[in-house]
Amino acid sequence: MSLLKIEKINKSFLDGDNELNVLSNISINIESNQIVILMGPSGAGKTTLLNLISHIETYDSGKIEFDNNKLNMTNDNLRKSFLGLILQKHNLLPEFTVLENLTIPFELNKVQNHHNPIDLLKTFSLDSKINNYPNELSAGEAQRISLLRAIINKPKIILADEPTANLDYENLQIICDFIVDIKKKYSSSFLIATHDERLCDLADKILYLDNGKLSERKKNQI
Ligand SMILES: Nc1ncnc2c1ncn2[C@@H]1O[C@H](COP(=O)(O)OP(=O)(O)O)[C@@H](O)[C@H]1O
Ligand SMILES: [Mg+2]
Repeated sequence: MSLLKIEKINKSFLDGDNELNVLSNISINIESNQIVILMGPSGAGKTTLLNLISHIETYDSGKIEFDNNKLNMTNDNLRKSFLGLILQKHNLLPEFTVLENLTIPFELNKVQNHHNPIDLLKTFSLDSKINNYPNELSAGEAQRISLLRAIINKPKIILADEPTANLDYENLQIICDFIVDIKKKYSSSFLIATHDERLCDLADKILYLDNGKLSERKKNQI
């Protein structure tokens, strides 16, 4: 079943008088319980593509459908609970505790069907950090908490933009295990933009974006 279907998307930016064609005729299909890794050099358009999916940017032409086209993508709240977001820097709110950072997304968006944050922290052995503030966490812990925050509203797809860029090798391994664990427990799908070839080990599908064009790669081609 298709969770996210991107069809023939085109996107360009105006750079002075020049038109910069960032995405040309891009099509992607993501099914449930699938980890898709989006590779490509810096400037290839990975972040732009994620921004189109989460409606941070608009596209010039093409179509994006969620949940076999059953979800009305113009409904902000529906879309927000369908998608979870995780960025390179954890961007937890510094003046709130771990528990509050996990509670805000469902309180703010009035989502009823969310995980219990305390249960979630226990499940992933992070309950000792419940009352800590983000600056009291290691980089790896902060990124794990932001992954839990991304799944608190039970999204079907988690969009991640370079989620391991700030992590050392040990924490990278921990985050990879975490992603696989989340996928197994909740059948979540992931679309992960990254430079990091090591993340390809997790992939059910590897996509490569370069010069505006998208191609699929096998693991041994990376
Ligand atoms: N808002 C914008 N206005 C103009 N150009 C942009 C804008 N956002 C991104 N770009 C350009 O689009 C290209 C793709 O950027 P980006 O999606 O951030 O690439 P990546 O995430 O793969 O590094 C880059 O050349 C970047 O400079
Ligand atoms: Mg980027």
